[in-house]
Amino acid sequence: MTDRQILTADADWWRQAAVYQIYPRSFADASGDGLGDLRGIADRVDYLRELGIDAVWLSPFYPSALADGGYDVDDYRDVDPRLGTLEDFDAMLAALHEAGIRVIVDIVPNHTSDRHRWFREALASPKGSKERGRYVFRDGRGEKGEEPPSDWISYFGGPAWEPVGDGQWYLHLFAKEQPDLNWDEPEVNEEFLTTLRFWSDRGVDGFRVDVAQLLLKDIPEDPQQIMSKAEADAIDRTTGEHPFEERPGVHEIYATWREVFDSYDPPRTAVAEAWVSSPEQRARFARQDSLGQSFNFDLLEADFDAEQFRSIIEKNLAISEASGSSTTWVLSNHDVVRHATRYGLDPVAGTGRKGGAQWLLEGGAADAVRADAGLRRARAASMLLMALPGCTYMYQGEELGLHEVGDLDPDSRQDPTFLRNPGVDVGRDGCRVPIPWSRGGASLGFGETDAAPHLPQPEWFASSSVEAEDCDPASTLSLYRRALELRRILQADEELEWLETGAEGVLAFRRPSGWVSVTNFGAEPAPLPEAISESGAELLLSSGPETGEQTPAEVPGEVPGETTLWLRG
Ligand code: GLC
Repeated sequence: MTDRQILTADADWWRQAAVYQIYPRSFADASGDGLGDLRGIADRVDYLRELGIDAVWLSPFYPSALADGGYDVDDYRDVDPRLGTLEDFDAMLAALHEAGIRVIVDIVPNHTSDRHRWFREALASPKGSKERGRYVFRDGRGEKGEEPPSDWISYFGGPAWEPVGDGQWYLHLFAKEQPDLNWDEPEVNEEFLTTLRFWSDRGVDGFRVDVAQLLLKDIPEDPQQIMSKAEADAIDRTTGEHPFEERPGVHEIYATWREVFDSYDPPRTAVAEAWVSSPEQRARFARQDSLGQSFNFDLLEADFDAEQFRSIIEKNLAISEASGSSTTWVLSNHDVVRHATRYGLDPVAGTGRKGGAQWLLEGGAADAVRADAGLRRARAASMLLMALPGCTYMYQGEELGLHEVGDLDPDSRQDPTFLRNPGVDVGRDGCRVPIPWSRGGASLGFGETDAAPHLPQPEWFASSSVEAEDCDPASTLSLYRRALELRRILQADEELEWLETGAEGVLAFRRPSGWVSVTNFGAEPAPLPEAISESGAELLLSSGPETGEQTPAEVPGEVPGETTLWLRG
């Protein structure tokens, strides 16, 4: 047993962890029904161990009708029978822990699903009842309440209110199958504290908190007094006066969660998914008396551009230091176009994200993507991220260099952002296509049987399968494995010293262990900064195709275009 197979009680394990996001329904299907499951994850523990990650974050695996890919939860303390049982969860957790991998689960507190026991009780109970009081029910406008209480639009498009047939409407900031909870009702928090204890008692190490900034609502009972969408949009969210965005009281809720986290040894951790309006607002979620860490999506929204990267890195390191937290670096997750594809598309209006979304809308044809350039940049950016102080998050499949599947047939799409907005939004299914494990077979090794995977895999997935990349020293999988192994050896204090590069488009920094990372964002080779070339440093790894080099090689005089080099000196 090596050191890393023993999970210590280190309370700070999360500060610089490499966390791998698993979208369970698309990871591995042991039951052979076309849907990934918990046994599938347990069966792949060796793969995860070999990859060299510190933790996995599991997107929701709870019972759900999948109106929003599992973010519509029927029961927070159970496993979707299609994905397994609580016993399967325990077995998977034990296997991951045995491999030295911690487990973070997703908590979705803003809304339940419409099949949750509470919501069914609310529908069966009259206006003004305690059961309706757990959600945000309001009378409609008009004589018989036939008009919605306000003109608000849900984040997934379409109205944010749904009528229930008796003049009342309920609020759903996402799909109509996701009714918003009323967090002014103490019973709601009690229920979530019970859920946090339930999973903590089973041994989970941390929580990812879905849309953590929403929860609290300030919505008058009288619909005539509810502000319009235009009025709400005009409010500066940092004032805390928006009817549902960034209300400061959420931190009082999270302080009670913190007490639960801290009652365990080591304390359970949490990371907020909070799309907020300012770095200061983000820092509040990361305070040690709140959730402790908050996702920083700035690089995910940036172009592959040295200047943008540098200012984002500087800003986020400063913010996290001020909040006593560490930052989280992310380039891809289950909500956005994969970064290998974003970087292979022309940015629109300055952000790669919008470029990807636009391409999806236009049909997402693979030949419109400069696939090689996209992947080359993605590998360079991922290596840069892994060298930074703080946590690095990666999304299943990025270690294979997977591209987005942009041209899924509309009939196979499942995402409510597509179903609620035909012709406007194509949705997020293209990054959720099941992982290719082998070169051939009905589902490229995703499933144990011939069952069709729940989203169809394109033919080109075969050459990016684990089997195809496993023994290829130039593959993205080999690059991630080697990079994560080196990161583990070289990781030290959370400090970073920028090195003068003298070249526009080249970023270089040194970590306290002598670990140097240099990224050339330009297409042409650039000279290696003098401070490095003259220091007798040794080359450890390159994001370029020559990745296979496992032994220190001679330091080159220049950095190839769109490449990251790691050196020690
Ligand atoms: C978060 C999730 C996303 C989900 C939404 C509503 O943003 O990441 O997938 O659709 O919350 O729960």
